[in-house]
Parts: sequence; C-alpha cells; structure tokens
Amino acid sequence: MFEPRSQRSQLRDEITSLLLRGGLIGLAAFAVALSFIVVPRLLGQIYPTAQEQTGFRGTGMLRIEFEADLAELGAVNQLPDDWMGGPIPPEPGEELAGDIYENVQVLGHLTDYNFNRLMLAITEWVGQDEGCAYCHGDTGEFASDDIYSKVVARRMIEMTWAINEDWGAHVQETGVTCYTCHRGNQVPEYIWFLPEPNSRWAGSAARYQNLARPAQNMTSNYSTSLPVDALQVYLLEDRQPVAIHGLSALDQEGISNASIYHTYQTYNLMMHFSSALGTNCTYCHNTRSLPVVEGLTPQWANAQIGRQMVLDVNNEHIVPTTEFLPAHRLGPLGDAAKVNCTTCHRGVVQPLGGQSMLPDWPELASRDPIYAVGAPE
Ligand code: HEC
Ligand code: HEC
Ligand code: HEC
Ligand code: HEC
Repeated sequence: MFEPRSQRSQLRDEITSLLLRGGLIGLAAFAVALSFIVVPRLLGQIYPTAQEQTGFRGTGMLRIEFEADLAELGAVNQLPDDWMGGPIPPEPGEELAGDIYENVQVLGHLTDYNFNRLMLAITEWVGQDEGCAYCHGDTGEFASDDIYSKVVARRMIEMTWAINEDWGAHVQETGVTCYTCHRGNQVPEYIWFLPEPNSRWAGSAARYQNLARPAQNMTSNYSTSLPVDALQVYLLEDRQPVAIHGLSALDQEGISNASIYHTYQTYNLMMHFSSALGTNCTYCHNTRSLPVVEGLTPQWANAQIGRQMVLDVNNEHIVPTTEFLPAHRLGPLGDAAKVNCTTCHRGVVQPLGGQSMLPDWPELASRDPIYAVGAPE
C-alpha cells in the first residue's frame, strides 16, 4: 500500500534522530579532544622531561630526556659496591704470583695478595653466580687451561691493558676495567654479530636493507630498515673515512663518490653513535651542514678516535678469541660477539658517568702497575 505522508514523516524522524546522535557524538569527541589539551595543563607535565645544554645557547645543542629514563640511566651507570680495600703496594723481595703458581702467563708480576684480589674482582665483574668455577671448574685445578672462559679472560686482561695504555686519547684518565663492558654479565649486554643477508637470493642492494630487522646499533629493542651491515663496514672492516658529502655542486672536487647505499650505512652508524651516547646529532655536528669542519665540536674528534679504537679492539682482541669460544657463544655466521660504542657507553657520554675505577685497580691500568704510596690496606 502507498502511504506518502506517513513515509515522509518517518524519514523526517529518522533524519532528526541521526542529526541528534551525530551532534552528541561530535560533542563527545570534542570534549575528549579538549580534555587532552586541558587536563595535561591542569596536571602539569605527566611525563616530565629534563634538558641538558651541550653547546652554545640558541643553537639547538640540547639533550632532552624523560626524567624517568634519566633515573634509569643513572642507575645502570653506578660503580660496583666498594666491597674490598685497595691493593697493597709490594714490599721489596716479596714473592710474586709467577713464583707461587704454575701457569700464570700475564699476571705473574703481581704479589699474591694483589693477584687474588684481582681474581675475586673478576669473579664479581664477569663470573655472575658461578664463582671461581666459571673459569676454573670445580675440581680445584686452578692451573689448567681446559676451560675456555679462563683462556678468553687472559686475552681480555691484555685487551684491557691495550685500551688503557694505547687509547688514552679516547678513554683519558678514566680508562676502563672489565666492569665497564661486562657489568656482572659473562658476555656484555650490548654487543653485535655479523648479520645474515635478508635472503640468500637477494641482490646486492637488498641484502641488508629495506626489511625491518632488529637494530644491533640501538640501546633498546628497535627495528631498522637501514642497512644492517653498517657496523660491519665501519667497526670491523675499516672503511675510511666516513665521508659521503661533496662540498660543491655535483661534487666537482671529487671529494666523495659515495653511493646512496653507502650513505644509508653512514646514517645507520650515526644513529648508533647518537643512541650509544644518548645524544642527538648536534652533540658533534652543526646540522646546518654536517661535514663542514667549522661546525664540528671537540666531541666529534673523540668519536672519531673512538671508532679507530673499536676497530683495533675488534680486530686485534675480540676476533682472535673466536677459536676458543663454544658454539652457543657464536653469532649466526659463526663469529664472536663484537664491541660497539654502546658496549662501554650504554646511553651516556662518559661510561659510568666518568667515574674511574683505575685508582683502585692499577693492575688493569697498565702491564706495569703503579701503586700509590700509602695506599689503603
Ligand atoms: C673470568 C675468569 C676467571 C675467574 C672467574 C677466576 N679466575 Fe683465576 N685465573 C684466571 C686466569 C685468566 C688465570 C691465569 C692468569 C695468567 O695467566 O697470568 C687465573 C689463574 C688463577 C690461579 C693461578 C693458578 C696456577 O697455578 O697457575 C689461581 C690460584 C686462581 N686463578 C684463583 C682464582 C680464584 C680463587 C677465583 C675465584 C675467587 C678465580 N681464580 C676466579 C681467570 C679467572
Ligand atoms: C671493551 C669491552 C670489554 C672489556 C673491557 C672486557 N671485555 Fe670481556 N668480553 C667482551 C666481549 C665483547 C665479549 C664477547 C666476545 C668474546 O668472548 O670474545 C667478552 C667475553 C668475555 C669472556 C667470555 C665469556 C663467555 O662465557 O663466553 C670472558 C671470560 C671475559 N670476557 C672476561 C673479561 C675480563 C676478565 C675482563 C677484564 C680483565 C674483560 N672481559 C674486559 C668485552 C669486554
Ligand atoms: C658522537 C659524535 C657524533 C654524533 C652524535 C653524530 N656524528 Fe656524524 N660523524 C661523527 C664523526 C666522528 C664522523 C666522521 C667519522 C670518520 O670519518 O671516522 C661523522 C660523519 C658524519 C657524516 C659524513 C660527513 C661527510 O664528511 O660526508 C654524516 C652525514 C653524519 N656524520 C651525520 C650525522 C647525523 C645525521 C647524526 C645524528 C643522527 C650524527 N651524524 C651524529 C660524529 C658524530
Ligand atoms: C672501551 C670502552 C669505550 C668504547 C668501546 C667507546 N668509548 Fe667513548 N669513551 C670511553 C670513556 C672511558 C670515555 C670518557 C673519557 C673521559 O673521562 O673524558 C669516553 C668518552 C667519549 C666521548 C667524549 C664525551 C665527552 O663529552 O666527554 C665521546 C664523544 C665518545 N666517547 C664517543 C665514542 C664513540 C662514537 C664510540 C664508538 C665508535 C665510543 N666512544 C666507544 C670509553 C669507550
């Protein structure tokens, strides 16, 4: 049956109710949006931030962090508890570890007391809960070299000397001990391995980029589509220098003929530098023009020396330990875990906040420890 009037009024009712509902929803949405603006103003900053100036005023040379993250960074960058007194300077004619023990190849020149003090500390810094057994087993045969971790530890002692003696231009007086990298862990928390290609069949440009993969260059669980072989070319294979910009149009001076891929790798490395130190790019560059020398800060030079140091550490000390390591310590391509800037820095510009452990551990500062006269007993 055809009922034009009643149908029209039905339509009118429906439109009215629709408009009403739409209006209500709109109003609600507006109220929610408003509350996002108004409520934080009333409450103050919900996630308070702090900022630290790292250069001239007005140049954007700032580090801005959530206060909660800063508290966390402060907590991980504490020195271990001072649980034993300092070393005892050797007396003339005192018997040395080399005279007492059977198989001491690198620490033979320490007194018995200072040798055992160091063994205790190493156990705390890298042994975790396994105690002396982590490197010596539980049979009491301390002279045996059968356990790989002891053999690696010996190489690590030599590496620590090399860092403190040869790379003072980077680590300054602060220097490093096992704790700087290990922080109680058998393998340091921030390390990297050679990455597998995305796929066996991928062509050269697609082998390591364009697929979101865990970023070995960041402090947190990020993924990246930038080339994941960046650490490999810059912290192991020694591609020199990290230059990608030409400084004239069409690069007439031929300063750089870097490919786009090479450029992506550089940016991945720079993200690594920034993440490792917890800074942004302006800590080292003037971002108006990244390569111009006048815009570089003194920290840029520290970073450049740091890269040379990491190359040395990885090639001369870490890679040679591969032959001793059990399979479960190796990466997907059979390589040892390697050092990057985060291994020591862990999100701050000076590892452990610039606190030095070396005054207490002259045995690690150098092959020839210098004991302070009147050191505490
Ligand atoms: C992280 C590995 C590691 C841990 C943990 C460790 N040691 Fe050692 N220990 C070594 C290394 C390396 C040597 C050899 C040093 C050298 O060649 O100069 C060594 C050698 C020794 C020796 C000399 C043995 C000999 O006759 O040649 C003694 C004794 C010793 N350690 C005691 C201890 C005690 C006690 C503990 C636990 C408090 C301990 N070590 C924990 C790595 C470790
Ligand atoms: C610059 C950072 C750094 C410092 C400093 C350092 N290590 Fe290491 N250590 C590493 C890395 C990276 C690995 C993993 C790769 C390897 O085993 O070679 C490692 C591995 C080890 C291992 C083998 C762990 C395992 O179970 O596979 C031992 C033992 C060790 N370190 C002991 C020490 C001792 C002892 C010191 C101080 C004398 C020290 N390390 C100082 C970076 C460091
Ligand atoms: C801790 C210091 C530091 C930080 C932070 C840093 N860089 Fe760098 N940057 C360097 C150093 C050092 C080099 C040169 C490295 C070398 O040649 O060994 C460099 C090189 C570069 C280059 C190549 C310049 C050229 O000559 O062609 C670019 C581009 C660059 N950085 C961009 C960035 C960006 C973008 C950021 C922020 C995401 C950043 N950097 C953060 C230290 C830093
Ligand atoms: C073996 C540990 C270690 C590694 C690895 C390391 N650094 Fe450092 N770095 C230090 C120490 C220690 C200092 C502090 C020196 C001091 O007290 O002034 C430092 C200082 C710096 C500074 C100066 C900070 C400031 O403002 O005073 C920069 C920049 C820096 N490192 C960059 C890097 C970069 C980039 C890398 C990686 C290529 C790197 N570091 C790797 C130990 C390390």
